[in-house]
Amino acid sequence: MSGRYDRAVPRIAPSILSADFACLAESVAAVAPEADLLHVDVMDGHFVPNLTIGPPVIKSLRARTDLYFDCHLMVDNPGDFLDDFADAGANGCSVHVELPDVVPLFGELRRLGLDVGLAVNPETPFEECLPHLPRIDLLLLMTVHPGFGGQSFIADVMDKVKRAREEIDKRELKIALEVDGGINEETAAVAAAAGADVFVAGSAIFHDDDPLAAARRIRQAVA
Ligand code: DX5
Ligand code: ZN
Repeated sequence: MSGRYDRAVPRIAPSILSADFACLAESVAAVAPEADLLHVDVMDGHFVPNLTIGPPVIKSLRARTDLYFDCHLMVDNPGDFLDDFADAGANGCSVHVELPDVVPLFGELRRLGLDVGLAVNPETPFEECLPHLPRIDLLLLMTVHPGFGGQSFIADVMDKVKRAREEIDKRELKIALEVDGGINEETAAVAAAAGADVFVAGSAIFHDDDPLAAARRIRQAVA
């Protein structure tokens, strides 16, 4: 993605949350030919009721792959860590619109040369992110409640995806429109029809016997 975004091609973002952390580099290498971005879920046990990984893991992975790191920060205080994400080799970070004040975080991300993402929980109205659209590179619409992989796709979020697509196109904004949660071949096609163009998938890819083929099938489903 690196800066401004060209919507011509749908993008696949495997989520390492569902990979085997004991052999993470190998798992990433296995899907790399079908991965446009690598989705990295960072959870702090406060913003969401789960703990995952942070900058040290990103730094180790950065030494093993050139993939774009799309970091999804499900943390209460992302501003305390943005420098660390930049140093570790992140390319873009998404912060949640549900936090008290995201605007200063956008400035900090720009200063660090990171792409600016805004993540939105399923129950959060589209109006909450509307004023921020001109400032961001990626809008991440959650299609499950954040915190865990392997949940079911919430189809109701498609109304928000459609509204976001209309707004992005009407205003000719260069924003990637990402869906995250419960994405597989079937739901990716539904989200693509609603206007999404980046598809995060964790369990549908990494829990498949052939993760590369699973990622390819999702790509074919949204082509
Ligand atoms: C959930 C995470 C997702 C998760 C998706 O909070 O933001 O990125 O990895 O996992 P699946 O694809 O299994 O729903
Ligand atoms: Zn995520």
